[in-house]
Amino acid sequence: MSAVIDTRKLRKVYRVGAEDVVALDGVSVRVRSGESVAVMGPSGSGKSTFMNLIGCLDQPTSGAYFLEGQDVSHLHGDKLAEVRSRKIGFVFQGFNLLSRSSAAENVELPLTYSGVPHEERRERAASALKAVGLGHRMNHLPSELSGGQQQRVAIARALVNDPAVILADEPTGNLDSHSSEEIMRLFLRLNDERGMTIVIVTHEHDIANWTARIVTFLDGHVVDDRPSAQVAAARGSA
Ligand SMILES: Nc1ncnc2c1ncn2[C@@H]1O[C@H](COP(=O)(O)OP(=O)(O)OP(=O)(O)O)[C@@H](O)[C@H]1O
Ligand SMILES: [Mg+2]
Repeated sequence: MSAVIDTRKLRKVYRVGAEDVVALDGVSVRVRSGESVAVMGPSGSGKSTFMNLIGCLDQPTSGAYFLEGQDVSHLHGDKLAEVRSRKIGFVFQGFNLLSRSSAAENVELPLTYSGVPHEERRERAASALKAVGLGHRMNHLPSELSGGQQQRVAIARALVNDPAVILADEPTGNLDSHSSEEIMRLFLRLNDERGMTIVIVTHEHDIANWTARIVTFLDGHVVDDRPSAQVAAARGSA
């Protein structure tokens, strides 16, 4: 199958005062269409930096990044933003919903940016909310929804543009274990039924084990990249 994400020796150096912080130091990862991948590793190992780069939120210092075959590593500004809005769906730990907008309005937002007509926006937002089991909560404000429901609105928003990949940075970090499990079930259903490619950052093995593959970062390097069943077996015998 073709690679949706293909990074080659990706490097990211942040300049802080007079000091260089090497956040990523030569990361080469390929994610094929339809894969589900968990990104793990200790705090500061480069997980979010990696997600920001593959999500076209930031540019690498060096190295190449091909998104669906297109070299996007040298794009910046509006060009990068355009690729991002067409190809990437983001889900964050803190949901990042507009508090004064209804669930439906939140989900419509990415379509507003890409100039989809009003009527079609409504329909697509409704169908995305139905897909995450919130067809009956379209007019609720975020404050009128549970944490798990708010994250499902965020997932509907990520889906509505039919992106090449969904990137989620600690999507269950603010949820209890029951809601976390619901969210992972939803991600895996989207992966199974729609062939949606999914990359999820998590600190928890229980969450990572829902995915098929675990990529582990340490000090800006990938130190392990294996099927999650193998990682779980190795932990069990450790
Ligand atoms: N904007 C920035 N400016 C300077 N240094 C940064 C910046 N963002 C991240 N870093 C540094 O880069 C390294 C990697 O950070 P990153 O946020 O990618 O880690 P992480 O694996 O996501 O950690 P966590 O699990 O705590 O979220 C860290 O040493 C961090 O201090
Ligand atoms: Mg992080």
